[in-house]
Amino acid sequence: MNTSSIDRSRASLVAMARHNMASTRSGTIDQTASVLEVPARRYYDPERWRLEVDRVFRRLPLMLAMSCELPRPGDFKTLEAAGVPVLLVRDEGGAVRAYVNSCSHRGAVVVTEQSGNRRRFTCPYHAWTYDHGGHLVAVYAEQDFGHIEKSCHGLTALPVGERAGMIWVTLDPHSTLDIDTFLCGYDSLLEHFGFADWTLYDQRTVAGPNWKIAYDGYMDLYHLPILHRNTFGSDMPNQALYYAWGPHQRVASPDPGLLELEDLPEAQWPVEPLLASVWTIFPHVSIASFDGGGGRAVMVSQLFPGDSPLESRTVQNYVMATPPADDTVRQAADEQFRLLEHVVRDEDYATGLRQQRALMARPGATVLFGRNEGGGQRFHAFLDRLLETEDADLPDLFRAWN
Ligand code: FES
Ligand SMILES: [Fe+2]
Repeated sequence: MNTSSIDRSRASLVAMARHNMASTRSGTIDQTASVLEVPARRYYDPERWRLEVDRVFRRLPLMLAMSCELPRPGDFKTLEAAGVPVLLVRDEGGAVRAYVNSCSHRGAVVVTEQSGNRRRFTCPYHAWTYDHGGHLVAVYAEQDFGHIEKSCHGLTALPVGERAGMIWVTLDPHSTLDIDTFLCGYDSLLEHFGFADWTLYDQRTVAGPNWKIAYDGYMDLYHLPILHRNTFGSDMPNQALYYAWGPHQRVASPDPGLLELEDLPEAQWPVEPLLASVWTIFPHVSIASFDGGGGRAVMVSQLFPGDSPLESRTVQNYVMATPPADDTVRQAADEQFRLLEHVVRDEDYATGLRQQRALMARPGATVLFGRNEGGGQRFHAFLDRLLETEDADLPDLFRAWN
């Protein structure tokens, strides 16, 4: 990121902090014009869900890895995203490449380990071998197999972009939506975390309800002192301030702690409080900052639709600014991560799983997003537009919403 872009995005962080202070002083938040009603059916209807998988998850860039998961050439990671097996690898030149993890011989999954370091990838079925560039470099018993043009049988490459210490992959190989149009400048804000130099400390997967119920929760601070009263929420504010870059939204609560910054010149404001709270990346990521837990850390949650409208899968990543220096720090980090898993699994998702069944029992029901829930309102409004937008018009949609 160049200097003027860093300055501009820092100015945005400062402006948000100023807006936050004003809100704290007045005790008010921005409200939308009206309460939004969304048909409850959208949370469980199989046709709607199929459309969302195809038109959201299969054609927008998805944040599939933190850069620090693949620091060296040859480092790879595999995962399944919206039903597509993906292989990510950092090549000798330092660029990340992404492929459908399926062999050009008869389609077997080529790399079955979750991560590691490799110069070549050899398919476990008949040993066809690929390099970092996805080229087919060896065919087993080639003289018996018969001639094929190897250069036409490489792995299927997927569009990939690395920004702000995160890696985005588009599951549609023919996508014309470039990563910068998609991000709407949001990455220049996220850059201030410095994630490229952070460490992935731990990772786990939590089963959840329909992906939108989970994503609604990412932007919902209204529930904190209620649903989470027995864990971390009893003293938490229930008010939220929303800041949007296209469909990507930052959610922050009015923070009296920020008022202390006023005695300092803006140039000296430390960056941590300017980045507080939750950063969502449409359609499936939340980055939650919190205090404690073994030093500066965030939880990066990656949400994926499951095998049916009523299922999702969240990969929780505990990412630390520096690796724990000793056992005390390690224990604090472990404890914090266990608490976060418990909160999400046993409070948020347990509630969401019951909620979707209850909604199914009330045909014709709607769900409501209040004037204080502008984040959820924007999410559902954008999603509606996205589902009706043809592939060729996607860049225009993102430009129009930014
Ligand atoms: S399916 Fe991969 S080598 Fe045969
Ligand atoms: Fe929650």
